[in-house]
Amino acid sequence: MDRYEKWVLRVAFLVIGVFVFLIVYTKATGTSDLPQCVPYDTSYMRPRFTKLDDSTYQVFYVARMWNFEPAEVTVPVGSTVDLYLTSADVVHGFDIDSRNINMMAEYGGVGKQTVRFTEPGDYLITCHEYCGVGHQNMQSRIHVVFPQPNKP
Ligand code: CUA
Repeated sequence: MDRYEKWVLRVAFLVIGVFVFLIVYTKATGTSDLPQCVPYDTSYMRPRFTKLDDSTYQVFYVARMWNFEPAEVTVPVGSTVDLYLTSADVVHGFDIDSRNINMMAEYGGVGKQTVRFTEPGDYLITCHEYCGVGHQNMQSRIHVVFPQPNKP
C-alpha cells in the first residue's frame, strides 16, 4: 500500500471516530435529543394535541403538501412537549426555529423528539425538505406563553 494511501486511511478513520464519539457524547450528556423512530400505525395519521399534565404535552403532527397539522398549538413556559411526526404524502422536513429540533416526515414512518420550552415566544416550524411548489409556505407555530392565573 502506498504511503499516502495509509495516511488518507488514517485520517478517514480518525474523522469517522470523531463523528461517532460526538454522537455518543451528545446522547450521553443530554445536550442533544436525537430523534427516535416509533412503530407506525394509522392512528398517527390523525393530527392532535394532548395534555398529559400541566407541564407535559404531546403533539401528533401530520405533514402534507403544504402544511402541518395542527397548524398552531399553545403551551405554557416550562412545558415538555413530545413531538410525533409523520407524513401523508411525500418526504417533508420539520425544523423548529432556534431549537435543536430537526426531523424528517416520511409516509409510513413516525419520528419522535422531545423538546422543553423554557422561554416564551412564537416558535416557527418550517419544512426544510423541498416537497413541491408550496414548499416555502409550509409552516406551523408553537406559542409558548406564561400561564394565565386562575380567576377566583
Ligand atoms: Cu414540505 Cu417542503
